[in-house]
Amino acid sequence: MRPKEIRIKYTEYDNINELTAADKNLVQAARSAAKNAYAPYSKFQVGAAVLLENGEVIKGNNQENADFTDGLCAERVALFYAHARYPDIPVAVLAVSAQNHTGQVKEPAQPCGSCRQVMVETEVRFQKPIRIILDGSDGIHILDGAENLLPLAFKPNALK
Ligand code: THU
Repeated sequence: MRPKEIRIKYTEYDNINELTAADKNLVQAARSAAKNAYAPYSKFQVGAAVLLENGEVIKGNNQENADFTDGLCAERVALFYAHARYPDIPVAVLAVSAQNHTGQVKEPAQPCGSCRQVMVETEVRFQKPIRIILDGSDGIHILDGAENLLPLAFKPNALK
């Protein structure tokens, strides 16, 4: 028996003003995307903004449905759209922001497991880690790479 431990790393910022101008811009894009979410059922509006290596910013937000299982999270809407539009351009940074009926959430937004899986796939696809910015009114977390959100991820290699 060999007990093992995996550490994840992230940096905590107190608020958006501590970020670089480029990161701030992307968080603002995610915040504005959240405002346009179609979330009449959960009333939990999430926005994601993807910065591609060509400088393009692609925004997405969660899209719900009366058949609850047919909706999709903001992160996947943004990532899938980014690669529908620019299939060969790697993702450099992804920012996520969320708001509920009281306004912006306090804790940094936490992507669901499926979105983490899609982030890992995107990294594998382009062989580049994605910087991930999780926005909250009480703090912002920045992670260098989706492995920090999904250690021991299932990757395409497993299929070989
Ligand atoms: N949601 C996202 O869009 N991203 C997340 O990271 C977590 C959850 C959405 C899905 C659903 O529309 C609503 O938030 C409530 O779960």
